[in-house]
Amino acid sequence: MTDNAAPGAPQLSVRGIDVFYGASQILFGVDLMVERGTTVALLGRNGAGKSTTFKAIAGVVPPRSGTVSMNGQDITGLAPYRIARRGIGYVPEDRQIFPEHSVEDNLTIAAKPGLDGQVHWTLERIWKVFPALQSMRTRMGGRLSGGEQQMLTIARALMGNPDVVLLDEPSEGLAPIIVTQIAKLIGELRAEGVTILLAEQNMHFCIAVASSVAIIDKGQIVYRGTVAELKQNQEITKRYLAV
Ligand SMILES: Nc1ncnc2c1ncn2[C@@H]1O[C@H](COP(=O)(O)OP(=O)(O)O)[C@@H](O)[C@H]1O
Ligand SMILES: [Mg+2]
Repeated sequence: MTDNAAPGAPQLSVRGIDVFYGASQILFGVDLMVERGTTVALLGRNGAGKSTTFKAIAGVVPPRSGTVSMNGQDITGLAPYRIARRGIGYVPEDRQIFPEHSVEDNLTIAAKPGLDGQVHWTLERIWKVFPALQSMRTRMGGRLSGGEQQMLTIARALMGNPDVVLLDEPSEGLAPIIVTQIAKLIGELRAEGVTILLAEQNMHFCIAVASSVAIIDKGQIVYRGTVAELKQNQEITKRYLAV
């Protein structure tokens, strides 16, 4: 939602990052480009390196080499709160909502203007996109179902008016009917112009929502293409995805 990047340049760009936990290397030269307004899916099996990629982008586990840039500016190795201020909204796998705070407090705690100084996401707009959350605005976060908590974490990230939202396996552990609702919600966010990087194991979840796909396996990007191309490529889906 800011416009200080060169036209056509990716909003979020990850180039050649190597990431380690202690002595063990987990990511090997991972490259990813996310253009403004698109939804990119990072697909891969359990343990492939999806969450580590997101943690490296969000500053939780800084890369040992390579760069992460946002709107053309290098953000590699900055503290997570600084990276959030550069326009990256991170929805971690484990959701991390505040169980002892109401739905509304969980949202207002995270409110901050965007990089352009504007507030694009107000509580009113959140209630429009997430009517189910409005009807439970006074309920404690810890009393929500898994699907409701997932919606709350996505809504909370939006309250920070990010330029790019990282969604780490939003469908994980949820009942199929809830997964369908989350997929529909992501489609709505895309229609609202939100730029999304989505990690998933499940290709079917991404088909309706992603513009392009990168597959990660053993810490390396092994495939890039459109969702349509991937659907035609059974060799790749069989080799790298759980289907
Ligand atoms: N904190 C950690 N310390 C050491 N190894 C880790 C840690 N977190 C994840 N790993 C390892 O890193 C690899 C990638 O994990 P992860 O990025 O969580 O994969 P994914 O999100 O694709 O399931 C796995 O082999 C996992 O066991
Ligand atoms: Mg993961």
